Amino acid sequence: MEFYLQTMEPAIDEAMSVVGEFVGADPKDLAFVDNATVAMNVVAENTPLKPGDEVLINDHEYGAVFRIWRHKCEISSAKLVTARIAETAPISSVDDVVQPIVQSVTARTKLVVVSHITSPSAIVFPVKEICKAARERGIPVCIDGPHAIAMRDVNLTDIGCDYYCASMHKWLSAPCGSGFLFVRRDRQIGIQPHLTSWGKSLSGRAERWQDVLNWLGTRDPAPFLAIPTAFEFLEGVGLANFRRQTHELAKQCRSRLEEFFGTKCLIPDSIDWYGSMTAVPLPESVPKKSKPNAMHPLQQELRDRFRIEVPVMEYFGHLLLRASFHLYNSAEDIDRLMEALAKCHR
Ligand SMILES: Cc1ncc(COP(=O)(O)O)c(C=O)c1O
Repeated sequence: MEFYLQTMEPAIDEAMSVVGEFVGADPKDLAFVDNATVAMNVVAENTPLKPGDEVLINDHEYGAVFRIWRHKCEISSAKLVTARIAETAPISSVDDVVQPIVQSVTARTKLVVVSHITSPSAIVFPVKEICKAARERGIPVCIDGPHAIAMRDVNLTDIGCDYYCASMHKWLSAPCGSGFLFVRRDRQIGIQPHLTSWGKSLSGRAERWQDVLNWLGTRDPAPFLAIPTAFEFLEGVGLANFRRQTHELAKQCRSRLEEFFGTKCLIPDSIDWYGSMTAVPLPESVPKKSKPNAMHPLQQELRDRFRIEVPVMEYFGHLLLRASFHLYNSAEDIDRLMEALAKCHR
C-alpha cells in the first residue's frame, strides 16, 4: 500500500520526465497508457463527431487504427475518408504525401489521423508539414507514432501535433505495456478513458488531467517505471550509433532485395524517408494471400524453414516485404535472408 499510495506517483512522474525530455514535450502533456492502441482509443473516445463529420485517414495506416476510426465513425454516423497516397507511388517529395491529404480535407473534416512511420510501407511521413497544413485549415492532427520512438529524433513541440500515440516496446525495447499519449494543452480538459476508476491522485497531490489514465484499477506499473532504464541502455550505445548502424543495414537490405526481386521501393533511398526498416515491393508474379487474415506463404516459409521474421503485407493491391534491423542484427542476417529467399522464392 505504501508503494501504491505514496511511492508510485512520484516514480511515474520521474519516468515521465525522462520520456518528456526524449520526445521534446512537457511531461505535463503526457500520460502513460498501455500502448499506442489504447492511446488511439482514448483519442477516438474523446473526439466528438456529429452525423456527416469526417475523419481523414490515409491508405498507409495500420489496420487496427483503421478499425478504431471506422467504428467511431459508424457509431457517430460520421464518414471515414481515406486519402490516396498509395496512388502517387513512387513518392519523391514531401508534397507527394502532404497534397493527397490536403486535397481530401473538406469543411466537415474534424481530425487528421496519420502515422509518423507507416507500418505496411515503413515510410517516415513528413508529419511536421502535415501538421502545418492541417493547422492552417484549423484541423487537429493525431499522430500514430509507435515506430518513431527511438528510431527517429522525435520532438513533439516542433512537430506541432494535437495528439501523439506511442508504444515504447518497439524500437526503444522498453517492456510491453509502456505506451504514452500526448495531448496538446488546450485539448486536455475533460479527457476520459474507456475505463472509469478513481480518476484522482492516490497520494493526495493536486489533480491533473492524466489522473483518469494513471490509475485504471490496481495494475502493474513496472513497464512505465522501467522506461528510463531502456533509454539509458540505448543512450549508452549512443542513439546516433544505433540509428546509423540500423539504417545502414536497412539500406543494404533494401538494395539487395530490389535487385533480387527486380522491383523499386516506394520512396527515395534517403534516411529522411526511412530509418531502421525497409519495405520492398514483391514482383507481380508472387501470388497474393488466399485469405485476407492468413499469413502470406512466403512469410510463413521464411519463419518455419529459416527462423526469419519478415512480414509480407498486402498493401492496396501490392505485396511488400518488410525487414527490420536492431542492434542485435548484422550484415550476416541480410545474407541469411537472401539465401533463404533464393531457396523459397521460385
Ligand atoms: C503504425 C502502428 N500503429 C499502431 C500500432 C499498434 O501498436 P500497439 O500494438 O503497441 O498498440 C502498430 C503496431 O505494430 C503500428 O505499427
